[in-house]
Amino acid sequence: MVQAGTATDAVIDQLVEAFEPGDIIVDGGNALFTDTIRREAAVRAKGLHFVGAGISGGEEGALNGPSIMPGGTAESYETLGPILESIAARATEDGSPCVTHIGTDGAGHFVKMVHNGIEYADMQLIGEAYDLLRGVAGLTPAEIADVFTEWNQGDLESYLIEITAEVLRHVDADTGKPFVDVVVDRAGMKGTGTWTVQNALGLGVPVSGIGEAVFARGVSGRVAQREAVRPTITKRPEPAPIPGDFVEQVRQALYSSKVIAYAQGFDLILAGAQEYGWQVNPGAIAKIWRAGCIIRARFLNRIADAYDRNPQLDSLIADPYFAGEVANGVDAWRRVVATAALSGVPAPVFGASLSYYDSLAAERLPAALIQGQRDFFGAHTYGRVDRPGTFHTEWSGDRAEHEVR
Ligand code: 6PG
Repeated sequence: MVQAGTATDAVIDQLVEAFEPGDIIVDGGNALFTDTIRREAAVRAKGLHFVGAGISGGEEGALNGPSIMPGGTAESYETLGPILESIAARATEDGSPCVTHIGTDGAGHFVKMVHNGIEYADMQLIGEAYDLLRGVAGLTPAEIADVFTEWNQGDLESYLIEITAEVLRHVDADTGKPFVDVVVDRAGMKGTGTWTVQNALGLGVPVSGIGEAVFARGVSGRVAQREAVRPTITKRPEPAPIPGDFVEQVRQALYSSKVIAYAQGFDLILAGAQEYGWQVNPGAIAKIWRAGCIIRARFLNRIADAYDRNPQLDSLIADPYFAGEVANGVDAWRRVVATAALSGVPAPVFGASLSYYDSLAAERLPAALIQGQRDFFGAHTYGRVDRPGTFHTEWSGDRAEHEVR
């Protein structure tokens, strides 16, 4: 467990000197998976094994068992597996240890990176739900804590919802104010969320929920800009009238947006596996996230079931259970996003997730128009819906269409 980066390389250099052929070095830090790929090859060339193991669980996981995402060779897992299984958290449903061999070289750290990206989206979504319940419904932090405690009895049951209720209920000893009101509203980040989005961009996978969550931390951190701009732009409008049971609508919006964040995260894992040649099992990954890790949640059983039903699932939201759940909540989700916009409460992950859902549902996307624009200014060509081939229109001439060979 060494800080990611040069410190890890320095420790590996020392260990390589001391270790004997066949020994295994395990890097349990939050290393960048491409560093793990490089280190695994270098260490293997010296006759040793190198296992990049994503480990999640924070201080509690360290004491009671974390969720462990090891990469490296299958051979090294034969030795390491029983040790890791004995220290990993165990799922409450079936007692199975929260560890599985993810895939070769950097697979474990890639999956841990995506875990953290999902963690960012989960945390931001909970933050947006809190902000809406406070800014639109006018609930106090203590009342919102009670709402989260209640939500934690149902489909949203998760470690992050549970600790959010604790944080919201906490009162600052010095001022007597809600703790959340005395904390500077600038979210820190150590980099794994950014890596998730950078790699998703490279692989062409839309992780818009995770992306907006990273950007939201970025906005919060631009304190000088926020202070300079705030007086010059329109004030937040009065909260929009609340149609129906707003708390329940926010719960449904949170659940649906969370499904999208996980769907996008699993898309990224599968794209990474294809790119780097890993045989990953998405259902097994969902199972080892059921306990020990920061994103542990009841919901992960549903994801594991979805991949058990169909290991080739095109998207988590194509699974009949999740498709049905999101369809049931979609009206509430739309109302919450609209109410947030009308009330001037930022809800970037709720909004981006709904747009993603609507994009997948759309019969036609405006991408057709973008193709026209690209062909107009750069002769970038386009395809037609009615016949195969690649075409270009002479936009600056007679506007005749040519098939491009
Ligand atoms: C975990 C956490 C852990 C760490 C985060 C914090 O799974 O145990 O994700 O890895 O606490 O990296 O990340 P930020 O500082 O970027 O929020």
